[in-house]
Amino acid sequence: MPLVQQLQRSQARRVARFHTPGHQGGQGSGLPLKTAWGEAVWQWDLPELPELGSLLDPDGVMAEAQALAAQTFGADRTWFLANGSTLGVMAAIVATCAPGSKLVLPRSVHRSAIAGLIVSGAVPIFVNPPYDADWDLPGTLTPQAVAAALAEHPDVAAVLLVSPTYQGVVAEVAAIAALTQARGIPLLVDEAHGAHFGFHPQLPPRALSQGADLAVQSTHKTLSALTQAAMVHMRGTRVDPQSLTRAVALVQSTSPSYLLLASLDAARHQLATQGQDLMAQTLALAQIACDRIGQIPGLRVWAPSPPRSGFRQGDPTRLTVDVSGLGWSGFAADEWLDRSQGVICELPSLRHLTFMVTLGHTADDIASLVRGLEHLSRQHPSPSQGGSFALENLALENLALENLALENLALGSPSPLAPLTPRQAFFAPGETVPWQQGLHRLSAELICPYPPGIPLVLPGEPITAMAWEQLQRVQAAGGVITGCADPSLMTVRVVRDSGVQS
Ligand SMILES: Cc1ncc(COP(=O)(O)O)c(C=O)c1O
Repeated sequence: MPLVQQLQRSQARRVARFHTPGHQGGQGSGLPLKTAWGEAVWQWDLPELPELGSLLDPDGVMAEAQALAAQTFGADRTWFLANGSTLGVMAAIVATCAPGSKLVLPRSVHRSAIAGLIVSGAVPIFVNPPYDADWDLPGTLTPQAVAAALAEHPDVAAVLLVSPTYQGVVAEVAAIAALTQARGIPLLVDEAHGAHFGFHPQLPPRALSQGADLAVQSTHKTLSALTQAAMVHMRGTRVDPQSLTRAVALVQSTSPSYLLLASLDAARHQLATQGQDLMAQTLALAQIACDRIGQIPGLRVWAPSPPRSGFRQGDPTRLTVDVSGLGWSGFAADEWLDRSQGVICELPSLRHLTFMVTLGHTADDIASLVRGLEHLSRQHPSPSQGGSFALENLALENLALENLALENLALGSPSPLAPLTPRQAFFAPGETVPWQQGLHRLSAELICPYPPGIPLVLPGEPITAMAWEQLQRVQAAGGVITGCADPSLMTVRVVRDSGVQS
């Protein structure tokens, strides 16, 4: 662990420091946090000292640590990130898409991809993923959909996939890579939730091993790095490493936390030395949880059965549990489990709860999860808890299928181009207006309901009455509206006087 070891030596030096951070090894930190965190965290919180190597222009132990990470994660080159996959996805887009160039991507992208579009000025060619109405679950972009988008737009500069999705659906990366390679364009994969892939034969392979050119991973999500610590890995020659370095430098802090960077070095070492064993243990715990939850009356755990395009493979460590059979909404079940059972999921949605099982879990944790869900199955939700009342009134199948017209897009047709690109809309003069007045005008912001986690309104797109109704229904069901300045949906930010008719 070259970075961890050097940091250890550096913090142990007893020297008079006259540099950042201002707490000077904790001497200036307030008592409450010092008591809670102990001395070490402050002493290890050092800045970019010469012996620690630079992140912007990696040398010394930093370069060594990143080279070891590349080896461990199957890359030619790896960049450490101190601001999550958010930074990595933005940098990937900026490095490969000049202003005005086209990027094929799923509509269900994380908001960091929209930020990347705004920074780069690229034109999005959105393709909607297929939607499983039975499970109320979006899948991944299919090879057929990508092929159709590439046929319609022969001048595409790059393709961005999200794989796995938040709920653990894994894309057919190899088939899509064959399409991008035939065009000589890079395939970028937002693998934020898949840093553990490839470390055990029962886990999905990592995107790079399937022909992707670049993969962004949140090492902090499924491995043991500190929150915000992430990596971007690159393979082959279709992405210019100089461009990626410049793009990462554009959006990365010039004062990255060495606590975060050291945690990347340590997580890499842990995986390189014990990866297969740790993943075997994780998979075994996830399997026990899956089997036992599957036996609880009224519950079912998602699996890609039968495997089909868009839903071909799942991450066995990600458990998406449908609670609607009990009459609970996912949001209400989440609240009840947290409050009365002390069990907290990763992602609640209208019908399900998604639980992560990682190398940090023990058999006791799994027992608590199963026990909590067993108790849930014996509870009867009241309407005020968002139980069957809310579920029935929502007519779930219609929620996404009718209103989002996903069935058309599932056949692979790209969405029509929006009047303004996200960048044009972001920089256009905007105004905040009551929602009703915002209808049919061009949005200046991204508005994304959970569920289904697919942005209904993107910057530069007209706000439709359908989108408005849909957002209200999700909100009424206890869903969450994200991305916009006013999640209460009283007001919306629109482009002022764009002159563009929707
Ligand atoms: C699909 C996806 N991509 C990217 C990100 C951003 O990752 P980070 O939180 O590491 O910035 C997330 C975060 O949840 C995500 O779900």
